[in-house]
Amino acid sequence: MKRTENQVLIIFGASGDLTKRKLIPALYNLYKQNLLPDKFAVLGASRSSFTDDEFRSKVEEFLPAGESVETFKKMLFYQPVQTNKAADFVSLKNRLEEISSDLQMEKNYVFYLSTPPSLYEIIPKLLWANGLSKSKKYFRRLIVEKPFGTDLLSAKKLNVNLLNYFNEEQIYRIDHYLGKETVQNMLVLRFSNGIFEPLWNRNYVERVEITSAESLGVENRGGYYDHSGAMRDMLQNHLLQLVGFVAMEPPVVIEANAIRNETTKVFQSLRPISENQVPRYVIRGQYTESKIKNEKVVGYRDEPGVDPLSRTETFVALKFFIDNWRWAGVPFYIRTGKKLPTRVTEIVIHFKSVPHHLFGSRKSSATTNNQLIIRIQPDEGILLKFGMKTPGTGFAVQTVNMDFHYSDLAGTLVPAAYERLLLDCMQGDATLYTRGDAVEQAWQFVQPIINAWQTNPEIPIYGYPAGTWGPEDSNKLMTNGEWRFPCKNLTDDGLYCEL
Ligand code: BG6
Repeated sequence: MKRTENQVLIIFGASGDLTKRKLIPALYNLYKQNLLPDKFAVLGASRSSFTDDEFRSKVEEFLPAGESVETFKKMLFYQPVQTNKAADFVSLKNRLEEISSDLQMEKNYVFYLSTPPSLYEIIPKLLWANGLSKSKKYFRRLIVEKPFGTDLLSAKKLNVNLLNYFNEEQIYRIDHYLGKETVQNMLVLRFSNGIFEPLWNRNYVERVEITSAESLGVENRGGYYDHSGAMRDMLQNHLLQLVGFVAMEPPVVIEANAIRNETTKVFQSLRPISENQVPRYVIRGQYTESKIKNEKVVGYRDEPGVDPLSRTETFVALKFFIDNWRWAGVPFYIRTGKKLPTRVTEIVIHFKSVPHHLFGSRKSSATTNNQLIIRIQPDEGILLKFGMKTPGTGFAVQTVNMDFHYSDLAGTLVPAAYERLLLDCMQGDATLYTRGDAVEQAWQFVQPIINAWQTNPEIPIYGYPAGTWGPEDSNKLMTNGEWRFPCKNLTDDGLYCEL
């Protein structure tokens, strides 16, 4: 196991939700597993004027009660910082000096931007101005939360700005999907087995389908979401990263740049969808009022913080191609949405049917085409579907399942995404973080779609009742076959889903 050097993690936006819900619990779990360095401190920073103790009790709500929490809490400190007061950064620097000297530790710092993106320009600048962004002797790293820009232009600007104050090697852009164990497993599944990779191409794969469904709506984030929408919130980042892992060529080594070079090449090969092709390749939708389990559910436009005439998409489905040697001509379908029947993320590789249909018509065997399903969440696992003889007379074929569930690996703890990502950054490993050029490539692909929606109000935004699988028109995207309708349990198919 790699050694983690002593360091201080500085969280900007420490009074926010992400800190309480994800970051502090992830750090606590690392602490319990003895994965934190010998000397370690977290310095929370935000506008609120908490004392260390007040900060400690704020975050406690998301930690289990117990003795180890008491010792863990001693590692937490707090410093009020107003980003419009340059002097506060001098105090921040002094406080960091004080912590390092009290704990007799190196001045290695990881800065975490968990703030509104409007502060992504000023904070790195003030860190740089106070000599905190670079050091000859110690490491200095910057973790940036999404969104990395709201369009191609702002993403480019953000990259230029960050690079004024930190080098690319110091910048860690978080996409928490890459921290998911099952996403990383895709590399292992593909590149540690001899049986999948020979089939993983246009000769054997008929289509690839990715679904990331959420049953929740926008909850209390209407204000943010209404300016974002499913394309910016999920597809441009999380879903395209999944595409990167499914479609990439084998990297030469498992190392940050080798892997990120390969995913970036995938993004470079995405066939552009021009503005006038958008209606043919992209379907957008918005959830409307309905009843789920006999209870009335409000429509998106009635959610708090949402414009009553909003045309923001809460669902998007897309068909596209990857123009390279491996994938030429293979359609990729991806969809994501809020208020769908269940929470599930999965990738389905549909293999081509056999060349000669011995056991029935081409049509019936189309339903038994082999499928490999990679379940990202929940009921994490892998499912392979194939045809078997139905016992009895004749040669009737039925589809059967071969499945593996992570839950069967007794005693193995599947770490939460933030746990893995934080530890990687603390160890200087950027493999599971996105690189600036890849982010720009992903924007390049989605930008014409966003432009078309903005400039052409005639492109429909279909309503879909909350609790259904999105607009019916998303089914028409798929010219050969239909979407898999996944359930909570990996092996259940469609009909009897528990909602
Ligand atoms: C976030 C989005 O990045 O990902 C949310 O902003 C979304 O809108 C969330 O709900 C989904 O993450 P997960 O890990 O629950 O699939």
